[in-house]
Amino acid sequence: MREVTVTVPAKINLSLRVGAARPDGYHRLVTVYQAIGMYDEVRARAAPAGSFSVTVDGDERIAVSEVPTDDTNLALRAARLLAQRLDLAAGVQLEVTKGIPVAGGMAGGSADAAGALVACNALWGTQVSRPELSALAAELGSDVPFLLVGGTAVGTGRGEVVTPAMVRGEYWWVVLESTQGLSTPEVYREFDRLTTSGDLVTPDVPDAVMAALRSGIVERLGAALSNDLQPAALRLRPELAKVLECGVQSSAHGAIVSGSGPSCLFLTEDRAHAMRVARALTASGFGPVSFAAGPVPGAKVVGGDG
Ligand code: C5P
Repeated sequence: MREVTVTVPAKINLSLRVGAARPDGYHRLVTVYQAIGMYDEVRARAAPAGSFSVTVDGDERIAVSEVPTDDTNLALRAARLLAQRLDLAAGVQLEVTKGIPVAGGMAGGSADAAGALVACNALWGTQVSRPELSALAAELGSDVPFLLVGGTAVGTGRGEVVTPAMVRGEYWWVVLESTQGLSTPEVYREFDRLTTSGDLVTPDVPDAVMAALRSGIVERLGAALSNDLQPAALRLRPELAKVLECGVQSSAHGAIVSGSGPSCLFLTEDRAHAMRVARALTASGFGPVSFAAGPVPGAKVVGGDG
């Protein structure tokens, strides 16, 4: 192939239970991930062996200039890792078009890494199996393995061990983006400052969330949403408390900070309800707002030439 295009969704956490930091610095956690219909696109073009490059583009509401294009870029690291592990004399020119907020708590960088793994695997015809890709994904970041599969899934370990979950129905989310991102490590550090060792629990699978997902009853899921990183995100961005309150007052079934933030999520009944809540948030001066439904599949090839 000369060119392959892959789309990858954003992730949200319906529940995020965080425990103690491990010796390697990562926190033990149990999370329920859902992939929602907000996408980054990763295009991979053939390049001479040893030549790896990336460009990043996206619509104006997204701070694309904050995404590095040097060797620290996660999509580029993913491509290099795949070539290295296969001992492959390959190269690639990656083109990332962002639809997922940067540093928004929705795993935009991880999505690009998952997209690059799938795109390069197809471009180079390497036929690495999904379990093997998943192992490489885990080396790149805690959320990357989930973005290969998508849907709704329980994440354990540091988030990289993914087990698909039983879900009925479709869930409509209003997403309030922030023009200024939050650093995930900084939010975890704030979590550590706010949490004394006596408060720390061994995180477990949240029964209320799993039961709500099996029932397909949106109000039940709304009431069960939880995020242990939310107090830390609110300490760093106190203004988000008003945003969450506004969403609930304007009839959302649940309101929560997405992952490490600062994006906020509002659960609604359907598209029409999502539009009403989005309008109410905008009318109160909050924005930019968009909406997306989940669950949707993970990284997938949508185009290419043979
Ligand atoms: O895994 P990833 O590279 O996406 O994680 C980014 C940062 O988030 C880590 O460097 C760490 O500071 C924090 N983190 C954590 N515990 C986790 C996942 C992430 O402390 N389970």
